Amino acid sequence: MTILVTGAKGQLGREMVLALQADGEAVIAIGREEVDFSRPDQVVQAIAGYGAEQVINCGAYTQVDKAEEEAGLAFTINRDAARAVAEGVRLSGGRLLHVSTDFIFGGEQSTPYREDDAANPLSVYGRSKLEGERVVLEVLPEALIVRTAWVYGAHGHNFVKTILRLAGERRELKVVDDQLGTPSWTGDIVSAMRALIKADASGVYQFTNEGVASWYDFAEEIVAGARQAGFPVVAETVRPIPTTEFPLPAMRPAYSVMSKVKIRGVLGYPIPHWRASLKKMLNTL
Ligand SMILES: NC(=O)c1ccc[n+]([C@@H]2O[C@H](COP(=O)([O-])OP(=O)(O)OC[C@H]3O[C@@H](n4cnc5c(N)ncnc54)[C@H](OP(=O)(O)O)[C@@H]3O)[C@@H](O)[C@H]2O)c1
Repeated sequence: MTILVTGAKGQLGREMVLALQADGEAVIAIGREEVDFSRPDQVVQAIAGYGAEQVINCGAYTQVDKAEEEAGLAFTINRDAARAVAEGVRLSGGRLLHVSTDFIFGGEQSTPYREDDAANPLSVYGRSKLEGERVVLEVLPEALIVRTAWVYGAHGHNFVKTILRLAGERRELKVVDDQLGTPSWTGDIVSAMRALIKADASGVYQFTNEGVASWYDFAEEIVAGARQAGFPVVAETVRPIPTTEFPLPAMRPAYSVMSKVKIRGVLGYPIPHWRASLKKMLNTL
């Protein structure tokens, strides 16, 4: 089976490509140099032209704060190019896995969001990703959409790498403790996605690691893990602060924990807790 991975230089795309290659799969890895998602008019034919049996769409506009001032580009990439990818897949007759996000939710709940709970994105990024889901399913009702959250891994930029850097530079780190979600390791996300593909799943599924954390909990665990793993750490304290003390251009949901009941039924193995996976990732860095 030929598998086309878009966003192949991003944190999730890179992990996916390496995992597939390690298993001897025929992978076509593409980034913006090969197919530019800011030109959706060119994306349909380009994607169809690869003739892949499976397309995994990890390409996206992911700069959550910058999207507030680049709404046009965010929607072009996350909605229009997503639609174009789906149209390309429809033309070539393959299967599509499209990646989405917990930021489509508004955070008003206090129990995990299920796949069919009402979306209420608070940011341009969230709205553009929700539109992406909608148009993908409009073009290809049998597409598979996988929502994930708080992604980190060995490749690309992420919260873990930022905290590791800051922990080596500052004595005190201040991190918000009033946004709850679930840190999710690319290694586990890739395994779950591959299990869904193998099961020929379609429709919307959610995957994160197990557990709930605030960004403060996450940062504390990163600093503790970094110390244990022998990283240079000068940080002595991680201090919890409210979001109001660290305002950012884009609003984030205060609670974006997602239910994994549906995906558990497909996976057939226990989903690792975020703390266990973070440890694994730090040890491999
Ligand atoms: N990061 C998170 O916390 C998070 C949480 C939930 C869901 N997600 C979703 O997970 C998926 C993967 O995200 P990620 O964390 O791996 O993000 P990422 O590291 O930013 O990767 C996104 C990829 O998209 C590519 N891309 C951006 N603009 C493009 C364009 N104009 N044409 C073609 N490709 C373009 C980027 O290419 P360059 O490398 O050239 O910039 C990058 O390789 C996305 O759908 C994202 O919405 C992410």
